[in-house]
Amino acid sequence: MRRPLLAGNWKMHTTVMDACHLAAEIGKCSAGLDDRDVLLAPPYTVLSEVAHVLQGSAVLIASQNVCWEEKGAFTGEISPTMVKSAGGSAAIIGHSERRHIFHEDNEMINRRVHGALSFGLIPILCIGETLEEREDGKTLTVLEEQVRKGLAAVSREDMERSVVAYEPVWAIGTGKTASKEQAQEAHAFVRNLLTEMYEKNVAESARILYGGSVKPDNVDELMAQADIDGALVGGAALDAESFCRIINFT
Ligand code: PGA
Repeated sequence: MRRPLLAGNWKMHTTVMDACHLAAEIGKCSAGLDDRDVLLAPPYTVLSEVAHVLQGSAVLIASQNVCWEEKGAFTGEISPTMVKSAGGSAAIIGHSERRHIFHEDNEMINRRVHGALSFGLIPILCIGETLEEREDGKTLTVLEEQVRKGLAAVSREDMERSVVAYEPVWAIGTGKTASKEQAQEAHAFVRNLLTEMYEKNVAESARILYGGSVKPDNVDELMAQADIDGALVGGAALDAESFCRIINFT
């Protein structure tokens, strides 16, 4: 019912040459996978090269962040129209590295979500608790706040195009994956929340991805959970063989 989405976030990795090579490999191994979506979020400097390499394939391209303005004096930012003109159709927003290293707050993240939506990009809103928040029993409170504030004033129609990614901060880049039970609990919680905020059929069709040390050897059990609709992959997306195994999950 919900089409799986397997997304690779290359973060601040790859030169132009590395990126073209990796994109070509992923393009090859994703050919013919017509029951799922594959997406790559390369650095801004290679968005258009990667889009060019993947022309004619079904692989989607996303930026790793996006500004709410179309243009102007916003040094270091990228606008939704720039992403689109480079071949992108989606944007990762609110990634934990943006929240924790660059101090982006829920209000700014919400502006970015609206920026993406108003120019026709699919926002992939990332949420997730820190280890301290989990240990203090605050996981669900933190997720609720991030979802409600991140999606503030997002209409039902726009929610139908949006994606949420649950990424526990303690699982990102650490090799510690959330157990399938922990991930499923968080995903089911977010889906219930979407039912409250929108309505049941919007929540039922919304894709909620899991991220945090997704690897070839844990993707199958994660994807078998009822409310996990895909993966947002960091480290393992930089290795063609690993990412190809992940997108070919069974
Ligand atoms: P990881 O990163 O797969 O390296 O843990 C996930 C992410 O940051 O999206």
